[in-house]
Amino acid sequence: MSGKSVRLRRIFKSDGKSVVAALDHGQFQGPIPGIVDIGNTIREVVKGKPDAMILNPGVLVKYSDLLPGDVGIILRITGASTNYSPVFDYHRLTTSVEHALALGADAVIAMCFIGGNGESASLEIVAKTAEQCYKYGVPLFVEVLVQDQNKFVDANYIATGARAVFEMGADAVKTYYTGADTFREITNAVPVPVLIAGGPKDMDALDMAKQAINCGAKGVAFGRNVFQAANVAEYVRELVDCVHGR
Ligand code: 5RP
Repeated sequence: MSGKSVRLRRIFKSDGKSVVAALDHGQFQGPIPGIVDIGNTIREVVKGKPDAMILNPGVLVKYSDLLPGDVGIILRITGASTNYSPVFDYHRLTTSVEHALALGADAVIAMCFIGGNGESASLEIVAKTAEQCYKYGVPLFVEVLVQDQNKFVDANYIATGARAVFEMGADAVKTYYTGADTFREITNAVPVPVLIAGGPKDMDALDMAKQAINCGAKGVAFGRNVFQAANVAEYVRELVDCVHGR
């Protein structure tokens, strides 16, 4: 068994699925509602027993004592652009796979922007990070985002982006759900787990999660729908029931 598969088992459960709480928004969006006191957010999320969390390096260092050993840690290793950036720019590499291991991460996540001026550079970051991930036995998650906001959930863009990052070495893909008519084709063409992001807080996000699972998604990596829920712990429990079918 490779280092990657040992670590992937800390994130994907025996049914091959995962509920990931994405708590990495502060790096791009600042202290938005739900993560102003990120320590408290982590405490509430942990009560709901997710399979893993996405965290930024500073948060992992500061709050490592709040993290139970059975919740996988996926470290965000790209960024360097906030909502105040004059352009919706692609994300640069902000730390290394080696540093992620030193901080105790089980996996890393890189953003990949498709369809914009930064596409080549973004794909190059994925490819080079994949090489480092093989070297250290660390699973690579890639979040595929369409740079053109008008095409954010365009199935053609997402299908191409998801397939491209798989071919470069991604072990899992996180992206937006494109709808019941198209998402099955995307998961069929990507032979690694595909997780869906949640987007802005939405009463129907649990229903979207169910639909995505029916279309072959292997779970969710939800942020705002988790940490902006009225009862964060309860919402995580509902996601766990939905994804793992309990
Ligand atoms: C932060 C991110 C999140 O990890 C991801 O988009 C999921 O968050 P949400 O469910 O809130 O869309 O990249 O910007």
